[in-house]
Amino acid sequence: MKPRRIAVLTSGGDAPGMNAAVRAVVRMAASFDIATIGVKRGFAGLVEGDVRLLDRRNVGGIMDAAGTVLGSARLPAFRSPDVQRDAVATLDSEAVDALVVIGGNGSQAGAHALASLGVPVVGIASTIDNDLVGTDVTIGFDSAVSVAIEAIDRLRATAASHERVFLIEVMGRDSGHVALHAAVAGGAEAFAVPEDPIDPDAWLAELAATWRRKRHAIAVVAEGARPGAAALADLLRAAREAHGLAEISVRATILGHVQRGATPTASDRLLATRLGAEAARRLAAGAHGILMGSDGGEIVASPLADIVGRIKPLDPDLLRLAAELDA
Ligand code: F6P
Repeated sequence: MKPRRIAVLTSGGDAPGMNAAVRAVVRMAASFDIATIGVKRGFAGLVEGDVRLLDRRNVGGIMDAAGTVLGSARLPAFRSPDVQRDAVATLDSEAVDALVVIGGNGSQAGAHALASLGVPVVGIASTIDNDLVGTDVTIGFDSAVSVAIEAIDRLRATAASHERVFLIEVMGRDSGHVALHAAVAGGAEAFAVPEDPIDPDAWLAELAATWRRKRHAIAVVAEGARPGAAALADLLRAAREAHGLAEISVRATILGHVQRGATPTASDRLLATRLGAEAARRLAAGAHGILMGSDGGEIVASPLADIVGRIKPLDPDLLRLAAELDA
Protein backbone atom coordinates (compact mmCIF):
# COMPACT_ATOMS: atom_id res chain seq x y z
CA MET A 1 0.00 0.00 0.00
CA LYS A 2 1.27 3.48 -0.84
CA PRO A 3 2.16 5.45 2.32
CA ARG A 4 0.77 8.95 2.81
CA ARG A 5 3.44 10.18 5.18
CA ILE A 6 6.97 8.85 5.65
CA ALA A 7 9.85 9.68 7.98
CA VAL A 8 13.55 9.83 7.12
CA LEU A 9 16.53 9.69 9.47
CA THR A 10 20.32 9.54 9.25
CA SER A 11 22.02 7.28 11.77
CA GLY A 12 25.42 6.12 13.03
CA GLY A 13 28.59 7.78 11.78
CA ASP A 14 27.76 10.67 9.47
CA ALA A 15 28.83 10.11 5.87
CA PRO A 16 29.39 12.68 3.10
CA GLY A 17 26.39 12.44 0.77
CA MET A 18 23.75 11.74 3.43
CA ASN A 19 22.20 15.15 2.72
CA ALA A 20 21.83 14.39 -0.98
CA ALA A 21 20.00 11.18 -0.02
CA VAL A 22 17.62 13.06 2.31
CA ARG A 23 16.92 15.62 -0.43
CA ALA A 24 16.19 12.91 -3.00
CA VAL A 25 13.89 10.98 -0.65
CA VAL A 26 11.87 14.13 0.14
CA ARG A 27 11.57 15.34 -3.43
CA MET A 28 10.78 11.97 -4.97
CA ALA A 29 8.25 11.22 -2.22
CA ALA A 30 6.61 14.61 -2.88
CA SER A 31 6.22 13.70 -6.54
CA PHE A 32 4.04 10.78 -5.36
CA ASP A 33 2.11 13.10 -3.02
CA ILE A 34 3.78 11.54 -0.02
CA ALA A 35 4.72 13.95 2.81
CA THR A 36 8.06 13.47 4.59
CA ILE A 37 9.07 14.30 8.12
CA GLY A 38 12.74 14.50 9.08
CA VAL A 39 13.84 12.87 12.31
CA LYS A 40 16.65 14.63 14.17
CA ARG A 41 19.63 12.68 15.62
CA GLY A 42 18.81 9.26 14.17
CA PHE A 43 17.06 6.69 16.34
CA ALA A 44 17.60 8.91 19.42
CA GLY A 45 15.35 11.56 17.87
CA LEU A 46 12.87 8.92 16.79
CA VAL A 47 12.57 7.63 20.34
CA GLU A 48 12.17 11.18 21.69
CA GLY A 49 9.81 12.39 18.96
CA ASP A 50 12.24 15.05 17.68
CA VAL A 51 10.83 15.59 14.18
CA ARG A 52 10.03 18.36 11.70
CA LEU A 53 8.28 18.56 8.37
CA LEU A 54 10.51 18.49 5.29
CA ASP A 55 9.42 19.71 1.88
CA ARG A 56 10.85 20.29 -1.57
CA ARG A 57 12.04 23.78 -0.62
CA ASN A 58 13.60 23.24 2.80
CA VAL A 59 15.82 20.43 1.51
CA GLY A 60 17.26 22.80 -1.10
CA GLY A 61 20.90 23.87 -0.84
CA ILE A 62 22.02 20.94 1.33
CA MET A 63 23.55 18.74 -1.37
CA ASP A 64 27.08 20.10 -0.98
CA ALA A 65 27.08 20.22 2.83
CA ALA A 66 29.32 17.82 4.72
CA GLY A 67 27.82 15.89 7.64
CA THR A 68 24.06 15.48 7.94
CA VAL A 69 21.60 18.35 8.38
CA LEU A 70 19.30 16.00 10.30
CA GLY A 71 22.03 15.19 12.80
CA SER A 72 23.04 11.68 13.75
CA ALA A 73 23.75 9.60 16.84
CA ARG A 74 24.86 6.21 18.02
CA LEU A 75 22.26 4.63 20.27
CA PRO A 76 23.37 1.24 21.63
CA ALA A 77 20.17 1.23 23.75
CA PHE A 78 18.20 0.79 20.52
CA ARG A 79 18.97 -2.94 20.77
CA SER A 80 16.37 -3.06 23.52
CA PRO A 81 12.85 -3.98 22.32
CA ASP A 82 11.40 -1.48 24.84
CA VAL A 83 13.34 1.37 23.22
CA GLN A 84 12.33 0.13 19.77
CA ARG A 85 8.68 0.23 20.85
CA ASP A 86 9.14 3.90 21.90
CA ALA A 87 10.28 4.59 18.34
CA VAL A 88 7.20 2.86 16.95
CA ALA A 89 5.06 4.98 19.29
CA THR A 90 6.56 8.16 17.78
CA LEU A 91 5.81 6.92 14.27
CA ASP A 92 2.22 6.17 15.29
CA SER A 93 1.70 9.52 17.00
CA GLU A 94 3.11 11.35 13.96
CA ALA A 95 0.85 9.31 11.66
CA VAL A 96 3.89 8.03 9.76
CA ASP A 97 3.25 4.95 7.59
CA ALA A 98 6.85 4.15 6.60
CA LEU A 99 10.45 4.96 7.49
CA VAL A 100 13.68 5.49 5.53
CA VAL A 101 16.90 4.73 7.44
CA ILE A 102 20.09 6.16 5.96
CA GLY A 103 23.11 4.54 7.62
CA GLY A 104 25.55 1.67 7.96
CA ASN A 105 25.53 -1.72 9.62
CA GLY A 106 24.32 -0.80 13.10
CA SER A 107 21.65 1.48 11.67
CA GLN A 108 20.36 -1.17 9.28
CA ALA A 109 20.20 -3.61 12.21
CA GLY A 110 17.94 -1.02 13.89
CA ALA A 111 15.91 -0.71 10.68
CA HIS A 112 15.48 -4.48 10.58
CA ALA A 113 14.38 -4.55 14.22
CA LEU A 114 11.66 -1.99 13.44
CA ALA A 115 10.65 -3.96 10.34
CA SER A 116 10.25 -7.01 12.59
CA LEU A 117 7.85 -4.94 14.72
CA GLY A 118 5.74 -4.29 11.63
CA VAL A 119 7.11 -0.90 10.51
CA PRO A 120 7.49 -0.63 6.72
CA VAL A 121 11.18 0.34 6.42
CA VAL A 122 13.56 0.96 3.53
CA GLY A 123 17.27 1.29 4.27
CA ILE A 124 19.83 3.28 2.29
CA ALA A 125 23.44 2.05 2.40
CA SER A 126 25.53 4.84 3.88
CA THR A 127 28.81 4.60 5.76
CA ILE A 128 32.32 5.75 4.95
CA ASP A 129 33.46 2.21 5.86
CA ASN A 130 31.82 0.58 2.79
CA ASP A 131 31.39 -2.63 4.78
CA LEU A 132 27.67 -3.19 4.18
CA VAL A 133 26.60 -6.33 2.37
CA GLY A 134 24.02 -5.75 -0.40
CA THR A 135 25.92 -2.96 -2.14
CA ASP A 136 29.27 -2.70 -3.83
CA VAL A 137 29.66 0.87 -2.63
CA THR A 138 28.12 2.92 0.19
CA ILE A 139 27.38 6.64 0.40
CA GLY A 140 30.42 8.44 1.84
CA PHE A 141 33.06 5.91 0.89
CA ASP A 142 34.35 7.76 -2.17
CA SER A 143 34.63 11.04 -0.23
CA ALA A 144 36.48 9.37 2.65
CA VAL A 145 38.93 7.66 0.29
CA SER A 146 39.44 10.96 -1.55
CA VAL A 147 40.44 12.69 1.70
CA ALA A 148 42.80 9.82 2.50
CA ILE A 149 44.59 9.98 -0.84
CA GLU A 150 44.89 13.74 -0.67
CA ALA A 151 46.59 13.24 2.71
CA ILE A 152 48.82 10.50 1.30
CA ASP A 153 49.89 12.76 -1.58
CA ARG A 154 50.83 15.51 0.86
CA LEU A 155 52.58 13.20 3.27
CA ARG A 156 54.56 11.65 0.43
CA ALA A 157 55.98 15.07 -0.41
CA THR A 158 57.24 15.64 3.12
CA ALA A 159 58.27 11.98 3.52
CA ALA A 160 60.44 12.25 0.40
CA SER A 161 61.88 15.61 1.48
CA HIS A 162 62.94 14.23 4.88
CA GLU A 163 63.62 10.62 3.83
CA ARG A 164 61.02 9.44 6.33
CA VAL A 165 58.61 6.57 6.79
CA PHE A 166 55.00 7.68 7.35
CA LEU A 167 52.36 5.38 8.80
CA ILE A 168 48.94 6.85 8.03
CA GLU A 169 45.94 5.63 9.99
CA VAL A 170 42.62 5.83 8.16
CA MET A 171 39.16 5.09 9.58
CA GLY A 172 37.70 1.61 9.71
CA ARG A 173 37.31 0.02 13.12
CA ASP A 174 36.14 -3.31 11.78
CA SER A 175 36.97 -3.17 8.13
CA GLY A 176 39.77 -2.16 5.81
CA HIS A 177 37.93 -1.03 2.67
CA VAL A 178 39.03 2.60 3.12
CA ALA A 179 42.62 1.52 3.85
CA LEU A 180 42.85 -0.86 0.89
CA HIS A 181 41.36 1.58 -1.63
CA ALA A 182 43.43 4.49 -0.29
CA ALA A 183 46.59 2.38 -0.38
CA VAL A 184 46.06 1.39 -4.01
CA ALA A 185 44.86 4.83 -5.18
CA GLY A 186 47.59 6.59 -3.19
CA GLY A 187 50.36 4.27 -4.39
CA ALA A 188 51.31 3.33 -0.82
CA GLU A 189 54.24 1.00 -0.26
CA ALA A 190 52.39 -1.08 2.37
CA PHE A 191 49.03 -1.41 4.06
CA ALA A 192 47.46 -3.22 7.01
CA VAL A 193 43.78 -4.09 7.48
CA PRO A 194 41.83 -5.83 10.26
CA GLU A 195 40.63 -8.59 7.93
CA ASP A 196 44.15 -9.80 7.14
CA PRO A 197 46.37 -9.65 10.26
CA ILE A 198 50.04 -8.90 9.61
CA ASP A 199 53.18 -10.39 11.12
CA PRO A 200 54.59 -7.09 12.44
CA ASP A 201 58.27 -8.13 12.20
CA ALA A 202 58.03 -9.33 8.60
CA TRP A 203 55.80 -6.36 7.61
CA LEU A 204 58.23 -3.82 9.11
CA ALA A 205 61.25 -5.58 7.61
CA GLU A 206 59.64 -5.22 4.19
CA LEU A 207 58.84 -1.57 4.84
CA ALA A 208 62.45 -0.97 5.91
CA ALA A 209 63.67 -2.68 2.73
CA THR A 210 61.42 -0.38 0.68
CA TRP A 211 62.84 2.62 2.53
CA ARG A 212 66.38 1.50 1.72
CA ARG A 213 65.45 1.40 -1.96
CA LYS A 214 63.40 4.62 -2.15
CA ARG A 215 64.65 6.63 0.83
CA HIS A 216 61.03 7.19 1.88
CA ALA A 217 57.94 5.03 2.36
CA ILE A 218 54.20 5.39 2.96
CA ALA A 219 52.12 2.76 4.73
CA VAL A 220 48.34 2.94 5.18
CA VAL A 221 47.02 1.32 8.35
CA ALA A 222 43.32 0.84 9.06
CA GLU A 223 42.09 2.01 12.45
CA GLY A 224 41.12 -1.57 13.32
CA ALA A 225 44.43 -3.18 12.28
CA ARG A 226 46.53 -4.63 15.08
CA PRO A 227 49.09 -3.36 15.86
CA GLY A 228 47.83 0.12 14.92
CA ALA A 229 49.77 2.88 13.15
CA ALA A 230 51.23 4.46 16.30
CA ALA A 231 52.30 1.08 17.72
CA LEU A 232 53.86 0.06 14.38
CA ALA A 233 55.78 3.35 14.31
CA ASP A 234 57.11 2.62 17.81
CA LEU A 235 58.05 -0.93 16.81
CA LEU A 236 59.90 0.34 13.76
CA ARG A 237 61.80 2.92 15.82
CA ALA A 238 62.71 0.22 18.36
CA ALA A 239 63.89 -2.11 15.57
CA ARG A 240 65.98 0.51 13.73
CA GLU A 241 69.26 -1.15 14.66
CA ALA A 242 68.00 -4.64 13.78
CA HIS A 243 67.10 -3.43 10.30
CA GLY A 244 70.47 -1.70 9.98
CA LEU A 245 68.72 1.65 9.63
CA ALA A 246 69.97 3.75 12.51
CA GLU A 247 69.14 6.90 10.56
CA ILE A 248 65.51 6.05 9.69
CA SER A 249 62.98 8.62 10.88
CA VAL A 250 59.38 7.50 11.43
CA ARG A 251 56.14 9.46 11.85
CA ALA A 252 52.54 8.33 12.39
CA THR A 253 49.59 10.47 11.21
CA ILE A 254 46.05 9.70 12.37
CA LEU A 255 43.48 11.02 9.87
CA GLY A 256 40.44 10.05 11.93
CA HIS A 257 37.26 12.07 11.61
CA VAL A 258 38.81 14.45 9.07
CA GLN A 259 37.62 11.86 6.54
CA ARG A 260 34.04 11.91 7.79
CA GLY A 261 33.76 15.70 7.47
CA ALA A 262 34.59 15.75 3.77
CA THR A 263 32.60 17.71 1.22
CA PRO A 264 30.79 14.95 -0.70
CA THR A 265 32.39 14.04 -4.03
CA ALA A 266 30.35 14.06 -7.24
CA SER A 267 30.23 10.29 -7.13
CA ASP A 268 28.79 10.26 -3.58
CA ARG A 269 26.20 12.92 -4.46
CA LEU A 270 25.08 10.92 -7.50
CA LEU A 271 24.95 7.63 -5.61
CA ALA A 272 23.03 9.21 -2.72
CA THR A 273 20.59 10.91 -5.07
CA ARG A 274 19.90 7.70 -6.97
CA LEU A 275 19.51 5.60 -3.81
CA GLY A 276 17.29 8.19 -2.11
CA ALA A 277 15.04 8.58 -5.14
CA GLU A 278 14.71 4.82 -5.62
CA ALA A 279 13.94 4.30 -1.91
CA ALA A 280 11.00 6.73 -2.23
CA ARG A 281 9.84 5.12 -5.49
CA ARG A 282 9.90 1.65 -3.91
CA LEU A 283 7.96 2.86 -0.87
CA ALA A 284 5.40 4.50 -3.15
CA ALA A 285 5.03 1.15 -4.91
CA GLY A 286 4.35 -0.54 -1.55
CA ALA A 287 7.77 -2.22 -1.14
CA HIS A 288 9.61 -2.33 2.20
CA GLY A 289 11.91 -4.46 4.34
CA ILE A 290 14.74 -3.78 1.90
CA LEU A 291 18.12 -2.05 1.69
CA MET A 292 18.83 0.10 -1.35
CA GLY A 293 22.34 -0.40 -2.69
CA SER A 294 24.34 -0.46 -5.88
CA ASP A 295 25.60 -3.38 -7.94
CA GLY A 296 27.92 -2.51 -10.79
CA GLY A 297 26.23 0.87 -11.25
CA GLU A 298 22.67 -0.53 -11.06
CA ILE A 299 20.47 0.39 -8.09
CA VAL A 300 19.39 -2.82 -6.37
CA ALA A 301 17.32 -3.88 -3.36
CA SER A 302 18.25 -6.62 -0.89
CA PRO A 303 16.05 -7.93 1.93
CA LEU A 304 17.16 -6.33 5.22
CA ALA A 305 16.97 -9.80 6.77
CA ASP A 306 19.74 -10.96 4.38
CA ILE A 307 22.20 -8.16 5.05
CA VAL A 308 22.10 -7.48 8.79
CA GLY A 309 24.85 -8.86 11.00
CA ARG A 310 27.20 -9.38 8.07
CA ILE A 311 30.37 -7.48 7.09
CA LYS A 312 31.29 -7.16 3.42
CA PRO A 313 34.67 -8.77 2.75
CA LEU A 314 37.46 -6.88 0.99
CA ASP A 315 37.55 -7.16 -2.80
CA PRO A 316 39.91 -10.10 -3.47
CA ASP A 317 40.87 -8.74 -6.91
CA LEU A 318 41.94 -5.43 -5.40
CA LEU A 319 43.85 -7.22 -2.64
CA ARG A 320 45.71 -9.24 -5.28
CA LEU A 321 46.37 -6.12 -7.34
CA ALA A 322 47.71 -4.30 -4.28
CA ALA A 323 50.16 -7.14 -3.68
CA GLU A 324 51.15 -7.35 -7.35
CA LEU A 325 51.73 -3.61 -7.58
CA ASP A 326 53.66 -3.65 -4.33
CA ALA A 327 51.32 -1.60 -2.16
O1 F6P B 1 31.21 5.66 10.58
C1 F6P B 1 32.17 4.68 10.56
C2 F6P B 1 33.29 5.10 11.44
O2 F6P B 1 33.83 6.32 10.97
C3 F6P B 1 34.38 4.07 11.58
O3 F6P B 1 35.30 4.07 10.52
C4 F6P B 1 35.00 4.48 12.88
O4 F6P B 1 35.65 3.41 13.47
C5 F6P B 1 33.82 4.92 13.68
O5 F6P B 1 32.86 5.35 12.75
C6 F6P B 1 34.10 6.02 14.65
O6 F6P B 1 32.93 6.29 15.36
P1 F6P B 1 32.69 7.53 16.30
O7 F6P B 1 32.59 8.74 15.43
O8 F6P B 1 31.42 7.23 16.99
O9 F6P B 1 33.88 7.60 17.18
